[in-house]
Amino acid sequence: MSNTDRAIGKDKDGNGIVYEDLMNLYTLFVDFFRVKTYDRRKEVIVFMNTQDCILTRRSVRKFTNEPVAPETVEQVVSLAAFAPSWKNTQVSRYLAVIEPEDRAQICQYVPDYNARIIDQCSVLLAQTFVKSRSGYERDGSFSTDRGPGWQYYDCGIAAQTLCLAAHDMGLGTVIMGVFDRPALERFLNIPADQELMALIALGYPDETPPAPRRKDVQTLLSFKRGQSTI
Ligand SMILES: Cc1cc2nc3c(=O)[nH]c(=O)nc-3n(C[C@H](O)[C@H](O)[C@H](O)COP(=O)(O)O)c2cc1C
Repeated sequence: MSNTDRAIGKDKDGNGIVYEDLMNLYTLFVDFFRVKTYDRRKEVIVFMNTQDCILTRRSVRKFTNEPVAPETVEQVVSLAAFAPSWKNTQVSRYLAVIEPEDRAQICQYVPDYNARIIDQCSVLLAQTFVKSRSGYERDGSFSTDRGPGWQYYDCGIAAQTLCLAAHDMGLGTVIMGVFDRPALERFLNIPADQELMALIALGYPDETPPAPRRKDVQTLLSFKRGQSTI
């Protein structure tokens, strides 16, 4: 499909402007003002609406060396606590790794492309979950045929809530799912009743990545009307 076919607008020469072009322009626009307000963030209140926040959040893999204050990490996590969860079980937990020496050790247990991120972020959050609660009945049986799957689902919602909250506060994040889980659980002393879910790098962004292409809504959404699905 050509760009013109996918166009949602035309420029003055009649060329198609596709959704991704507009998204990237929008990201640059918002980021321009964000950077200005970020420099003077004590004096200026930044308003970002929910759609701005969703559209302009990116996985950030380059960070400045400005430290993220512990109170800021607390605020991000306190916002993530408002994520919905199975029967409000709130199983997601976060272990903040702030010492560069600890982060350097963690790099042994991740592929190089994630080690490069962990090496320069300010804080590495190890997201864990309390086992056998989300998706379970009190007697330990599964509530649904998803088995233990809802605990992963809850972690995903919590992680995205955290990333959006961080973005709203001028911070960058990237979720990392590729690591040697047993080795990291040992290194991080994750309690036996918890499991490591993901690593989330946190820091002040030193890049504004373009939005990777998204599937269009026609691919994502169908409507069931009577017997047919359109
Ligand atoms: C469950 C999960 C695991 C991911 N693992 C990694 C990873 O190991 N390393 C990495 O650089 N990015 C990782 N990502 C980030 C994705 O590559 C990124 O979200 C995707 O390309 C879309 O880009 P965006 O977040 O900027 O919109 C992961 C994202 C998710 C949700």
